Amino acid sequence: MDDITALILDDHTAFRRGFARLDDARNEQELLAIWEALALHLDIHAEAEEAILYPHLVKHGDDGEDETADAIGDHNKIRDAIAEAKLHPVGSERWWAAVGTARRENSEHLAEEEDEALPDFRRHASTELRAELGQRWLTFYGEHKNGRDLPFRDKDPQRYVADHR
Ligand SMILES: [Fe+2]
Ligand SMILES: [Fe+2]
Repeated sequence: MDDITALILDDHTAFRRGFARLDDARNEQELLAIWEALALHLDIHAEAEEAILYPHLVKHGDDGEDETADAIGDHNKIRDAIAEAKLHPVGSERWWAAVGTARRENSEHLAEEEDEALPDFRRHASTELRAELGQRWLTFYGEHKNGRDLPFRDKDPQRYVADHR
């Protein structure tokens, strides 16, 4: 049985490693290979959290509504930076600027999620729920392999909270 918070932390580690790999890439082909996989993973991860983690946190967290609105806003900034990077040739100045924004926004977001949202979730979620959501998380990744059927569109944070609380 996998705990959803452990699965989320595994993804966060993969993101940090992915951005570090970009530093080591020596040509555009390497950059493209690393970035495409990383960007897709970032986009799927945000959708998975919005489908599985935050609907629970917004209802049961001590500060669930604020944490959820913050997270959706952060996800939007990361999505926007990924979409911006797609508009520019890999390795160009504007591409690096967009990737740098994605990296910075992601680093800030991971810290908030790990230090605030996930601790709040752990305080209120039973072991059974954590395992059940972990199972749903794995199923979500299977059903949406390579981002299949996911729109990767920004969501209005306040509207998301109002729709899920
Ligand atoms: Fe996350
Ligand atoms: Fe997140």
